[in-house]
Amino acid sequence: MPTLEIDGQSVTVEDGLNLIQAAERLGIEIPHYCYHPGLSIAGNCRMCLVEIEKAPKLQIACNTRVAEGMVVRTQSDKVKHARAAVLEFLLINHPIDCPICDQAGECKLQDYYMDYDRQESRFALEDKVHKNKARDIGPLIMLDQERCILCTRCTRFLEEVTGTGELGVFQRGDHCAIDLFPDRRLTNAYSGNVADICPVGALTNKDFRFRARVWYLDHTASVCTTCATGCNIDIHHRRGEVLRFRPRHNADVNQYWMCDEGRLSYKRLQGEGRLLQPVVRDGAAWAVRGWTEARALLRTRLSEIVAAHGAGAVAGVVSAQATNEEIFLFGRLMREALGAAVATLAWSPVDATRDDFLIDADKNPNSAGLRALLTDVADLDQVLAEARRGAVRGLVLLRADLHAARGSGVLDALGDALEFVAVLDTHFGPTAEIGDLLLPIATFAETDGTFINRAGRVQRVHEAVPPPAQSARGWQLLSELLGDVTGDAVPVDASAVFTELAATHAAFRQLSYSRLGELGQPLAAGA
Ligand code: SF4
Ligand code: SF4
Ligand code: FES
Repeated sequence: MPTLEIDGQSVTVEDGLNLIQAAERLGIEIPHYCYHPGLSIAGNCRMCLVEIEKAPKLQIACNTRVAEGMVVRTQSDKVKHARAAVLEFLLINHPIDCPICDQAGECKLQDYYMDYDRQESRFALEDKVHKNKARDIGPLIMLDQERCILCTRCTRFLEEVTGTGELGVFQRGDHCAIDLFPDRRLTNAYSGNVADICPVGALTNKDFRFRARVWYLDHTASVCTTCATGCNIDIHHRRGEVLRFRPRHNADVNQYWMCDEGRLSYKRLQGEGRLLQPVVRDGAAWAVRGWTEARALLRTRLSEIVAAHGAGAVAGVVSAQATNEEIFLFGRLMREALGAAVATLAWSPVDATRDDFLIDADKNPNSAGLRALLTDVADLDQVLAEARRGAVRGLVLLRADLHAARGSGVLDALGDALEFVAVLDTHFGPTAEIGDLLLPIATFAETDGTFINRAGRVQRVHEAVPPPAQSARGWQLLSELLGDVTGDAVPVDASAVFTELAATHAAFRQLSYSRLGELGQPLAAGA
């Protein structure tokens, strides 16, 4: 643990850190372009030059390891002069694109120019070297060669992280440019990350370009729910609309990255197909109901079936798309309050994509949560068989897409046999079509809660945007339904539900909702 001095402040850090990382511990920013903590060190941009006592010349902070007794200056005149010179050099051939560049607001050239340069260019506009602009290099990425500062973050990512090497540096001198190798396209499953790590507007995300100026966006920490890995993400949103997902660093889960499928999964959260208000079947049509009436209908119909045929005539199905809080409350509602059986569903397509890095073949965010919270569950196929032969007459589905998991044949047979089906879900679809009562609930971006990823890590999601129209947060609806049936006091927020489930499930006992923080915590071993 060497102790060194940076700008007159003493700091003791782990051996092996570089000066950029050590300065960060003191809240001191050393500007940098080519350095990225998830990639090897290239040392090519020279933006991170600092003065080190006893060293005759300025040194690059990204490639200088901390040492005992080191004295570093990041604000000396020599350093300031070097930074301004580096910026002037980088801007010689840079186009005057800021007003039309989608990177504006998150561009390190803009930021560092304002912080460390602010001088007039000594180079004439007409002498600038021109290169290709707006080149479509893959399904997700546009390349503007003129804006590139040749930091090689993108090529290092494609060599060191994906191993696909689609991009390289071509030509010499001021004609150097990033480009695709011949006959290649940027089609790997993680291509969107190159836009995140490009410090300027040279690589931009086609899906997000020109949809919003980034300074208008709000950010909410969350977790991707497209597979069981549970990559940590930030949800970027504006006025209730989710506009993009960006990876968020978690050394125990996804490091700095996410896959393209997860990145684009925000699209299915909003818009077409969302259930927006409670509806009941009315012949061939649907009739809108208020929440009080819809909840009363659910309670009455299930109670009638139990009274007429016994508790075994009602069953619930909950999927691994539900949060831990929803699974816990659903279990209490169906089993404890109604005496019904509960079956679980953690379905993924047989040809689901997977790799040895992040992408998991389990396309559910919470298979581990289902296993941890519900034991002694009924077999789903047996429940469905009993429904087809009339032994089960009432079914409640929580985020359980039976159509995707078992096909339309099973679904058609069910629709004919059951007396009452309640569907609690986000979207209308073939499964919802067999319902008699549809209760709209929030997506993971519209609710608080937790999921458990494939490694047994309990991770929080936060309500980034409000649930649309009349749709309800899942934990809230289930809590109210539980109160309706039992008459007992019920948890009033997701944190209170978590506290209850942690008190009744040994694997969760050492965890608390607030202490999960933004990075989550592992479930107790053996859970
Ligand atoms: Fe760096 Fe972006 Fe240029 Fe790649 S395209 S070298 S990430 S500036
Ligand atoms: Fe989402 Fe899985 Fe992709 Fe991570 S690997 S971003 S969790 S789909
Ligand atoms: Fe150190 Fe580029 S960040 S040389």
